[in-house]
Amino acid sequence: MASIFKNHAKLERHSMLLLLFIVIVVSIGGLVEITPLFFLESTIEKVDGMRPYTPLEVEGRDIYIREGCYLCHSAMIRPLRDEVERYGHYSLAAESMYDHPFQWGSKRNGPDLARVGGKYSDAWHRDHLINPRSLVPESIMPPYRFLAEHDLDYRDIKDKLRTLKTVGVPYSEAEIASAAEDLKAQADPNQSPTKLKAHYGDKLNIRDFGGGPDRVTEMDALIAYLQMQGTLVDFSTYKADAPANTR
Ligand code: HEC
Repeated sequence: MASIFKNHAKLERHSMLLLLFIVIVVSIGGLVEITPLFFLESTIEKVDGMRPYTPLEVEGRDIYIREGCYLCHSAMIRPLRDEVERYGHYSLAAESMYDHPFQWGSKRNGPDLARVGGKYSDAWHRDHLINPRSLVPESIMPPYRFLAEHDLDYRDIKDKLRTLKTVGVPYSEAEIASAAEDLKAQADPNQSPTKLKAHYGDKLNIRDFGGGPDRVTEMDALIAYLQMQGTLVDFSTYKADAPANTR
């Protein structure tokens, strides 16, 4: 024992030696914390309800990114009391497991959108996107009227799903093959949703989202994406299995 203390006295007197040992000790601590994160399978808790986005939602998400909505809106509710009271259950890692890249954002000029799905009607979103100040007079959000005027260009939707598949989103070949068909079926209530449901389950919004019944606009896609946000996991049955102090 005594010799350990004697050797330690040496460290305390030689600053460079002390620095070297500090670096070694800190790296061990760092490795212990960081290495497990590379084994993603074990860091993202599996949660019921999560499914890959439908082709229409993928297109909507791309418009969300194209228009830079993430510059003013976060989509990640932190586990802090004021956030949870305002926006709902804090975001789970699993809720962004199919996001490439994720849309957590880092700035909130407007409210968090992680659970905006179902909060308003499609008509509200449509009017708000066309002219935010018609609904919220003090809003500083820019208007996006053109989204309702532009037909959605989804010629490359198959390639988009295939690309997502290469980074780990489990789209099947059948889902990729019928991507365009599934997209139309979600935005047009007059088409048969059988295939769409077989691919993505029952937790789907299938309707005309606001672009008119006979065309699919960029507005349809964006609203379909917004209305899905935060609605996939059912929090009335969700039970976190981690102890409270680790969340
Ligand atoms: C310049 C910043 C800015 C940009 C860019 C922006 N927003 Fe907003 N957004 C706001 C502000 C501020 C509010 C709060 C006032 C209001 O409701 O208009 C808001 C509100 C919202 C709401 C209502 C949220 C709620 O819970 O009440 C939605 C939905 C929304 N924005 C969607 C979008 C989408 C989609 C885009 C991209 C097409 C976008 N925003 C781009 C600033 C922005």
